[in-house]
Amino acid sequence: MTTEDLLNKASQPATQDTSRPPHVNAQDYARMYAESVNDPDAFWAREGKRIDWIKPFQTVKNTSFAPGNVDIRWFEDGTLNVSANCIDRHLETRGDQTAIIWEPDDPNKEAALHITYKDLHTSVCKMANVLTDLGVSKGDRVVIYLPMIPEAAYAMLACARIGAIHSIVFAGFSPDALGARINGCDAKVVITADYAPRGGRETPLKSNTDTALLHCKDSVKCLVVKRTGSQTTWTDRDHDCNALMASASDDFAPAAMGAEDPLFILYTSGSTGQPKGVVHSSGGYLVYAAMTHEIVFDYHQGDVFWCTADVGWVTGHSYIVYGPLANGATTIMFEGVPTFPDAGRFWEVCAKHKVNQFYTAPTAIRALMGAGPEWVEKHDLSDLRVLGSVGEPINPEAWNWYNEVVGKGNCPIVDTFWQTETGGHMLTPLPGATQLKPGAAQQPFFGVQPVVLEPTSGEVIEGNGVEGVLCIKDSWPGQMRTVWQDHERFEKTYFGDYKGYYFSGDGCRRDEDGDYWITGRVDDVINVSGHRMGTAEVESALVAHAKVAESAVVGYPHDVKGQGIYAYVTLMNGEEPSDELRKELEVWVRTEIGPIAKPDLIQWAPGLPKTRSGKIMRRILRKIAEDDFSALGDTSTLADPSVVDDLINNRMNRS
Ligand code: PRX
Repeated sequence: MTTEDLLNKASQPATQDTSRPPHVNAQDYARMYAESVNDPDAFWAREGKRIDWIKPFQTVKNTSFAPGNVDIRWFEDGTLNVSANCIDRHLETRGDQTAIIWEPDDPNKEAALHITYKDLHTSVCKMANVLTDLGVSKGDRVVIYLPMIPEAAYAMLACARIGAIHSIVFAGFSPDALGARINGCDAKVVITADYAPRGGRETPLKSNTDTALLHCKDSVKCLVVKRTGSQTTWTDRDHDCNALMASASDDFAPAAMGAEDPLFILYTSGSTGQPKGVVHSSGGYLVYAAMTHEIVFDYHQGDVFWCTADVGWVTGHSYIVYGPLANGATTIMFEGVPTFPDAGRFWEVCAKHKVNQFYTAPTAIRALMGAGPEWVEKHDLSDLRVLGSVGEPINPEAWNWYNEVVGKGNCPIVDTFWQTETGGHMLTPLPGATQLKPGAAQQPFFGVQPVVLEPTSGEVIEGNGVEGVLCIKDSWPGQMRTVWQDHERFEKTYFGDYKGYYFSGDGCRRDEDGDYWITGRVDDVINVSGHRMGTAEVESALVAHAKVAESAVVGYPHDVKGQGIYAYVTLMNGEEPSDELRKELEVWVRTEIGPIAKPDLIQWAPGLPKTRSGKIMRRILRKIAEDDFSALGDTSTLADPSVVDDLINNRMNRS
C-alpha cells in the first residue's frame, strides 16, 4: 500500500466514542494554540494550575534564547513538591485506586501487583526516610540503576519528596557507563538491585555496580533492592533496602521546592563527546508532562495507561511516572520485553489489564508485525482507545499494521515527536482533533513554535511544501534548563548553530497542509531501536581497544531497528583482521557502553576517506554503509581517493 492510499484511509477523525468527547477537538486546538503562542502568560498561568503549588507563582514565563544569555525560567517564584503532586493530592479522592500496575518479566512465575495511591504514599515515604538516613538531603544527587520494578518509581518519587535530584541510568548500560554517570553528577548514593530479570535472562546489576564503584569516591553509598534473591557480594558501603524500608517510618513531609529547582538529570548522547547531563526543572516539567499526558493520549479519569518504555529513558520519566501520576492515572510498569514468553506478551498484558492507551516504539511494532497477526488476534483488545508511537519515524507499513491489526481501525495513532531535552511531546496529532497522516508528527503541541531553517544559511523558510532543519522559536515549560554544571555546553549545543533558536538536531519537512514530518537526525547521532546513540561514543570505545588505530561509525537503514550501527575500523600496524577479532570488538563495545551500542556490522578499513586537512568525510561512509554509492559526490578533495574503492569493494551491507 502506498503512503497516499494510507493517507486516504487514515483520514478518520480519531476518537469514535461519542459518549466521551475528546478533551480537545479541532476547534479547541486552533483556539488554544493561538492563545498559547500569542499570550503565553495567560495560557500557562491557567495551565500551571493543573498542579498544586505550596506557594502560588506570580511570574509565569521568564525566558531568553538570546545568544550568550540563554536563560529559561517558568513559574519561577512558585514552590511545590513533585511527589506530593503525584501522590498526596490524590489520597482523599482516590487513595484506594491503583496507581501502578506492575507486570513482571515472567508471568508464569509471578503475578502482577496492584499498588494503590495509599500504598505508593507509604512506600515512597519509607524510601525517603531510608535515603535521608543515608545522608541524602535537598539538592544531593542519587543515581538509580534498577530494573523496571516498583522500587524504581518509589526511588524517583522519594528523591522528589526530599528535593534530591535523581539520575537514572538504564539497567542495560555497562559498569563503565554507570561509573561515569555517578562521577559526572557526584552522586551520594546509588540505588540498585541484585539482578534485573528481562526476557528470561538476568543482568547482574549489583555486580555491575560494584565494578562501577571501583572508579568512584569511597563515600558513595549503595542501596540494594532484593529482586531475585540470587546471591550477590556484599561490601561495607552496601545497605539492604528491603530491611531498611521495613523498619522505616511511613511518614515523610514533602519539601517545598522552587519551581526551577532541578527534579532530575538524565544523560543523553549527542553528536560530540561524552553524554550530557540534561537537567529538568520541577514546576515547568511537571505541568508539561501532566498536560501532554492528558491531552495527547486523551486520558480520562479511570483509564488504564501503558507506556512500554523503560524508566531509564525520558519516555519512562514523563509517561510512566510523572505525567500519569500527576493526573491520578493508573499506569503500568512493565518489567519484560515484547517477545517473552512469546510474541503475544504486549497484547496479553493489554487484555489482562484492560489497557485504554498504549504507547510504544516503532521498532517494537516492526518486530511484532514480523511475528504475525495471530499473536494479536488471540487477545481481546476492545478497551484500547488511543495508540501512541515514539522514538523514531514510523514507516507506513508499521503504521498500517498498528492501525488495522492492533487498533482495528478504531484507535487514533499519536505519532509523538519529542526528545530527552524537551521533557514532553513537541509535535503530535491529537486524538479527536487531527486528521491523521501515517508517518507524520503533524502539528505542534500548545506553546511550541516550530520553524524550518535552511541548514547552511540559517534563514527561516516560510510557507508550506518546504524542507530544512527543525528549530523552535520560543521556550515551553518542559524544556531542559541546562547541561549539568556546563551551561556553556548547553548554549553551544542547542543555540550555537542557529542564533536565537533551539536546534533539535533533526531535519523536517512541512507539507502542503502545514503538517510536519521528521526526516531524522542531521548530526552524528543515530537512532537504534528508538535509542539514541552518539557515533563519537562508539568510536571512542572502539579506539580504546589496543588493536584499533582508528574508527568511524555511521548509521545505516535496518529493517527492525530503524538504524543499525556500522563501524569502519582501521587496525594497528601488524594486526590482522579476523572473525575472532570482529567478535572481540563487539564484546568490547558491549562492555564499554552496553548491549545497545554493539556494532551490527564491522568493516575492516585499511584507510578512511579523509580530506587533506585530515577530516573524515562521513558523507561518503554513510553512503557506502547504505549500499548506495552511485552518488558519492565530489571525492576530489580526498587525500587518497583510492581508499573509497577499497571500502566499496569490501562493504558489509549488500542489500
Ligand atoms: O530524532 C528524533 C527521534 O528521537 C530523537 C530523540 O531521542 P531521545 O532524546 O532519546 O528521545 C526519544 C523519546 C522521546 C529525536 O531527535 N524521534 C523521537 N520521536 C520521534 C522521532 N523521530 C521521528 N518521529 C518521532 N515521533
